This record gives sequence, structure tokens and C-alpha cells, in this order.
Amino acid sequence: MSNPVLTAVAWPYANGPRHIGHISGFGVPSDIFARYQRMAGNRVLMVSGTDENGTPIQVQADAEGVTPRELADKYNRMIVEDLHGLGLSYDLFTRTTTANHHRVVQDLFLALHRNGYVLTRSALGAISPSTGRTLPDRYVEGTCPICGYDGARGDQCDNCGNQLDAADLINPRSRINGEKPEFIETEHLFLDLPAFTEALGSWLSTRTEWRSNVLKFSMNLLDDLRPRPITRDLDWGVRVPLDGWRDAPMKRFYVWFDAVIGYLSASVEWARRTGDPDAWKQWWCDPDAVSYYFMGKDNITFHSQIWPAMLLGQNGAGDRGGQAGAFGALNLPTEIVSSEFLTMSGSKFSTSRGTVIYVGDFLREFGPDTLRYFLAVAGPENQDTAFTWDEFVRRINFELANEWGNLVNRSISMAHKNVGAVPRPAAPARADAELLETARSAFGTVGNLLARNRFKASLTEAMRVVSAANKYFSEQAPWKRADDPERRDTILHTALQVVSDCNTLLTPFLPHGAQRVHEQLGGTGLWAAQPEIREVAEADAPGYPVLMGDYAAERACWESAPIEVGRPLAKPTPLFAKLDSELGDTGPSWAPIAG
Ligand code: MF3
Ligand code: ZN
Repeated sequence: MSNPVLTAVAWPYANGPRHIGHISGFGVPSDIFARYQRMAGNRVLMVSGTDENGTPIQVQADAEGVTPRELADKYNRMIVEDLHGLGLSYDLFTRTTTANHHRVVQDLFLALHRNGYVLTRSALGAISPSTGRTLPDRYVEGTCPICGYDGARGDQCDNCGNQLDAADLINPRSRINGEKPEFIETEHLFLDLPAFTEALGSWLSTRTEWRSNVLKFSMNLLDDLRPRPITRDLDWGVRVPLDGWRDAPMKRFYVWFDAVIGYLSASVEWARRTGDPDAWKQWWCDPDAVSYYFMGKDNITFHSQIWPAMLLGQNGAGDRGGQAGAFGALNLPTEIVSSEFLTMSGSKFSTSRGTVIYVGDFLREFGPDTLRYFLAVAGPENQDTAFTWDEFVRRINFELANEWGNLVNRSISMAHKNVGAVPRPAAPARADAELLETARSAFGTVGNLLARNRFKASLTEAMRVVSAANKYFSEQAPWKRADDPERRDTILHTALQVVSDCNTLLTPFLPHGAQRVHEQLGGTGLWAAQPEIREVAEADAPGYPVLMGDYAAERACWESAPIEVGRPLAKPTPLFAKLDSELGDTGPSWAPIAG
């Protein structure tokens, strides 16, 4: 059965190159999931883009001495190249500065407003005494009034996860220049979150499959819902489509308000680009469609509370009732799949603290599949996890190269040398049948784990089959069977069949390597599709790159496919190069281990 599966991936800020901590949260997990779902025969729509509005962009533009538009253009392109290099199979990776996005944000807002879920209130906003300019909440730092953590930001405390107002911080200071901000009264729009307490609570109580830490965190948020500001004093972002606001020079939507709507706007844009403008509805309005949202844990609040509240409000399904807006009744998230943090020397992996490992540098030296493998098997799936070069070297050398690479290489080499093609098997011995059954049954086990986003467990199960095959190969020792070619060929055939099965099981994790193994096994055509960078243009804007792809063209299916006897085999080249063990002590030159 083919089900619509929306894969909604958090939107990286276009305010700098992405480091491996970022993509450990949103990038690699979402792509493994989407690739698996496609192979299992489901209709996947995977969307995201760069997050380009609001204060995070404005502040970095100021720091680099460029306009926000120039900054967004520069990092949008860089991020697109990084995600392309990683092989992330977006149906559309776009950006939030498009006319389409602005329009969808405004339409959704108007539905919320018509249904009575938007309040107007005055609030205290920080300004910088030295420049007289608005100081964005995110750039005010101080002590959290709830937990006492000293590095809390004006929008949120990363320590206890609570939403904050900059004016509530104890001992507030500007993160830009350290000065003490002044607070002045200014008028803002608020999302009336308390009007969704019941609707959110009954929705969350049905979400029993979520990772327990995410569910618990989200439930706790319901204890203290307060109206949440959705506008900012700023001149870079989406305009507010109300009289008196529309032309206000310093009023824009809060960046998180517009960014979460990106999932919908990107789906709408994808439908238009692929020639069926209503096609997005299959993933948003069909009650049987499922939607999985991927992110790091600092994004949970926005996806398990604010975005669902916005959806409920546009649907007319909060305490105040109302009518569904222009988009019809939209589905709430099926699951929020959140990772913890990838850390380095104990602190959050961030550009502001400590060593940074950029995705671009990493890909140039080690290629995409090593990073994908490492993050899937040793990433921060359930707890903060330290990245170390030592562990990276160990995983790549002992698991990817010694176990998987070696199995592929020795079975294809032997078959090539002795037969030159996929050998014809005779009746299977017990050991052959057992190994074939181990591989066949892994499709159920690994698939169920992947469908539930249990990446470590699923990859471990797939690698268990690889180990079993290596053990079989060593025990059966086909190289010692020169006197019994029939038995030798049966062993080789069995080994190749299991290599093919393992390759299918590993395709969501290692799509680039999987294409090569497919070819080394004599296969032709496209096994695992990759995203393409396409240059597009809007009517009133210069061209920009998007990621799209023809994923329906790939052959990979989630099942054991019998290998074809007689298919010619060439001498294989090694799949994964071993890393120099010194790397574990020193790190690479572009991110050396501080000693
Ligand atoms: N830009 C945000 C971050 O990097 C994520 C935005 S996700 C979306 O933390 F929901 F807004 F799309
Ligand atoms: Zn706190």
C-alpha cells in the first residue's frame, strides 16, 4: 500500500556554513527515513529550505557588513551545496525569501486572525542604548528567571527549555556588545496559545509513539501556556497583512512564525514546480497522510506546540472555534523526531563555542557516506553525544571498511576471479539457507525500526547481517574448494546474494556506496537517486539554487531481489578507504584537536 509520508526537515538559518552538529539533528536522520519510506513504496514529500528572515540574519549581516539579502544569498548557496554533497534527497529545498513563502505566511496568518486567535498587546522590547536600534530577543543574554542558568537568551533558555521574554532575564546584557539594554513599550501581535491548551493536550495524548523525552518535554509545556508574540520590531522579514501594520517600516513577523509555515509553503511551491498545483494537498489534507518532523532538541517547542497551535487555529479548532482558512483543514504532525546535541569537549556543538567542524570541509576530505554512517550509528539520537575523531576512525575502519567493505570486496573478487560472473548455485547446504534467511528476515526487523526512526538500532541490525555473512564466508572458505567447483560456486552465489541484500538494507544510510555496490554486482541503471541543484528564478528576484530530484527513477526497493546468474562481474575496487589511525589523535588540519 502506498501512503503519503510528509518528511518535514527543520530549516537551517542562512547565517553561516553548517557544521556537523546541525546536520546530525535535521539532515541525516530525515534523509535515512525518507529514503527508507520511498524504498518501502510510500509516496514521500520531503521539503525544507534555508531560514532567511528575521533577526538571526539581520545580526549576522551587520557583523559581516553586508545587507541581509546579500548574506542570505551567500549562505543559501553554500548550504545548498553542502546538503547536495551529503546526498539529502529533498523533493524541494527552497528558501523563505520567496514571494510564494511570503504569500502563504500571510494567508495562514489571516485565517488565524479571522478565527480570533491573534491578540494585540503592548510589550516591552529591548533597544540598544548606544545605537537606538531594536535589540532582538535572541541577542539579549542573561540569567534565566526559572532555572538560574546564566547563558539564557531573551527568547528561550537552552538549559530548561522554557520560552522567555527578554524583559524577564535577570541581569540582561547585549550579546552584540555587552551593554545593558533599555526596555520600551511597543505594540505587538500575539498568538493566543492558552486558547489551544485543550486541543493541544488531547492531540499530544494520542502521540504515544514519540521518543519519551520529546513527549514529556512537550506535555510539560502545556502547564504554562501564555500568549506568544509573533511580531518583532525589525525591517527584515515577512510583512504583517493588516491595516496599520502592512506599511509599518519596523514591523515584521517573528522569524519562527514564518519559518514553520515553510513546510506548507515549500509543499505548495513543489506542487507548482512539478506541474500539479494542488498536489501538496495529498500530504496536508488527506487524514491518512502521515507527517514526520526532524530537528535538534532546541527546536521542539516550535514544532510540538507553536506550529500545531497555528495549524489548529487556521483549521478553526481551538477554544474559539472558527472556519478552516484558504488551505482547508491541515494535518497536525504525526511525530516530532528530535535529536539531542552533538557535542565537542563537553559543550554544545556550536559556532560560538569551541572547535567547529564544517560540513563542507568534512565532505571534501571524507565523502558523504562516512559521515552519514557515523551519525546514524553514533549520533546524538537519545542523549547528548560527544564527537571524537578517535571514535570516527574506529567506526569507519573497523565497521565500514573491515566489515562491510571487506565483505563486498572479497566476495565479488573471488567470484570475478573464478567465474567472471555471478555463479550458478547447486542445492543449498544448511549454512547457506540459514544465512539467506537471516538476510531475508532482516528486511522486516530493520524496516520496522526505520519506520520508527530508531536509527542506531536499525543500522546495528543491518550490520549484524554483514557480520554473519563475513563469518559464513570465513567458515565456508570458498578459496579452499578448488576441488569442488560446484560447492564453491554455491558458496559464492550465497555470499553475493547476501551482499546484495545487505546493500539494499544499507541503502538509506549509504546511498552513494550503495550505487557502487549495485554496479560492482553487475547491476545497471540508477539504484539510489541523488538530489540535483537546479537554478530557478522568481519573477522579481535573481536566480537561486534549489534542490530537487527524480527519486521515482531509482530501482532500490525494500525487499530481497534475486541476483541474476551469469551477470558479468568486474574486479571490484575498495569501497571505503581506511583512515590513518593518527587522525584519531590529531584531527584533520582544518579542525585540529587542541592539545
Ligand atoms: N532555523 C532554525 C534553527 O536553525 C530552524 C527552523 S525550523 C522551522 O534552529 F520550523 F522553522 F522551519
Ligand atoms: Zn532556564
